[in-house]
Amino acid sequence: MCGIVGYIGNKNTQEILLAGLKELEYRGYDSAGIALLDQNKIEVFKALGKLHNLEEKVNTNKEYPLGIGHTRWATHGKPTELNAHPHMGEYSYVVHNGIIENYKELKEELMKVGHKFVSQTDTEVIVHLFEFFYNKTPNSKEAFLNTIKKLEGAYSILLISKVDPDNIFFFKHGSPLIVARGLEKGEVLFSSSDSPLIGLSNEVVYLEDGVGGIANKDGINFFNDNVTWAGLPTSKQFAQKDGFRFFMEKEIYEQSDVVTDSMIGRLGENEISFDEFPASLIDGIEEIKICACGTSFHAGLTASYLFERLARVRCSVEIASEFRYKDPLLNKNTLFIVISQSGETADTLEALKMAKKAGLKTLVVCNVDNSSMTRVADATILTRAGVEKGVASTKAFSTQTVVLWMMGLYFANHKNTITKEKLEEEIKALREVPQALIIQDEMHEKTKRLSKRYLHGHGFFFIGRDVFFPLALEGALKLKEISYLHAEGYPAGEMKHGPIALADPELFTIALMPQNLLYDKIKSNVEELSARDSTICSISPLEFDLSDDFIRTKKTNHYMLEFFEMLVALQLLSMEISVRLGNDVDMPRNLAKSVTVE
Ligand code: G6P
Repeated sequence: MCGIVGYIGNKNTQEILLAGLKELEYRGYDSAGIALLDQNKIEVFKALGKLHNLEEKVNTNKEYPLGIGHTRWATHGKPTELNAHPHMGEYSYVVHNGIIENYKELKEELMKVGHKFVSQTDTEVIVHLFEFFYNKTPNSKEAFLNTIKKLEGAYSILLISKVDPDNIFFFKHGSPLIVARGLEKGEVLFSSSDSPLIGLSNEVVYLEDGVGGIANKDGINFFNDNVTWAGLPTSKQFAQKDGFRFFMEKEIYEQSDVVTDSMIGRLGENEISFDEFPASLIDGIEEIKICACGTSFHAGLTASYLFERLARVRCSVEIASEFRYKDPLLNKNTLFIVISQSGETADTLEALKMAKKAGLKTLVVCNVDNSSMTRVADATILTRAGVEKGVASTKAFSTQTVVLWMMGLYFANHKNTITKEKLEEEIKALREVPQALIIQDEMHEKTKRLSKRYLHGHGFFFIGRDVFFPLALEGALKLKEISYLHAEGYPAGEMKHGPIALADPELFTIALMPQNLLYDKIKSNVEELSARDSTICSISPLEFDLSDDFIRTKKTNHYMLEFFEMLVALQLLSMEISVRLGNDVDMPRNLAKSVTVE
């Protein structure tokens, strides 16, 4: 959520900043801006909307020894140019990722002593505080440290000032920030995630909370010694669309390959192993609690069915933002699992910290190595989906689900709740997942054709039972995210307890009807809707005469294989509807890929 970059060095600063922001644009695209500093001269460019608007505005080829940049997902203050970062005082500029919770009090105090504010953001107080302290005692380091002391909330900050034109001041508390040594002597880079740094640096520090410092062409001086240098991945292959129209489309098609990666080294001939976590982590565990947000929450909900069914272990799932403030009862014999694509989602991260503090064993299922959650949890299982750029999550979900299914079997084996034959059967099904995720042209074509019809109406219900209920939730979320149409996921059996009142021909029901799990039950539920004239699109291997439309999945002998094939159908359908509506598939309005504010 929001992306920040900074650069000190002899290369073209504006080009490096803009390229970095391009990599981070998926984190927020309400506005973007850069500030370039050369001794007494600061040049600032800001533009509303996507990054190309800013690129068109940056019209200088002058060389600047340093600069900072930002791409914004609005929290405080509407997306306007005035609210775009970098924010300025009289002689200093700041970019910020996170939220300053006490900004109102600070703003009032500063206004009383004559500071003038131009934006509605929380960020602007940072630069004014810095100048307030500097005006009292002209020592920039002291002024920066005093500023930090006053801030409450979550933030990563880069600050530059004409009064100290060789330096970039930086600090991390709660929101991610990486500082990197460039490949050339005297180069320092900053970024809120590692992708802009790839190819430009081999050595980085993923800053811990409470760590900051001052950087210039002579090096990086940290305020404390709590830093560890690390390497960076070298490959940038993920940044390409590879001939697909959208990153989302590419990522849907990639699922078959990436789930194979998720299984490598974990799925043996007739057993499942995870080198990443010691068996001691699950010894004595009586209960599992899963916590996550968004799509990751849906993967968690799916896992809860699998864990209870296979491993006979009690499993509850909570939305992280709810869990945090409910004063939860935490039992030490609970394994606390967080699921997160980014490893940075603020609510999930805080929930993880709470559980750890309460003495629970913790595990993160995550896609991004070195992310904040992987550094907090006792153990990490990486999903290995590769970088996911589409804001609407696709391959993150399929890899999470595969990993969680394998974990369910691992627990089951460990607890002796599964027979050898049943385990072999499940492993055989797992091996067939990559095949189930291969997209058949016929299915993609069908979703394109259906997208012509499913554009209007007053709403969509996605319905399913058992694990197909979380899948229904995920299908509805995908549609909402990128088509902006109203959609809800429901357990099919619940429709008659209220929602069925909405049924009429303008209500579209997407019915998930697996052959291998509760087929007759869901069939009755769909019949009830059909009897009330709802327009029905069934997704199933079996044709159903009451359906108005039908997306055919392959016949298999395991419901989870049907699950993955239906997942693809839902992802494609929402994408094609979004295309038909002329929306931006990869960067839907109001959303951001990584939500680092609560
Ligand atoms: C944002 C994204 C969603 C994602 C959710 C949780 O809202 O737009 O796609 O599911 O955050 O993110 P995480 O990285 O924790 O899985």
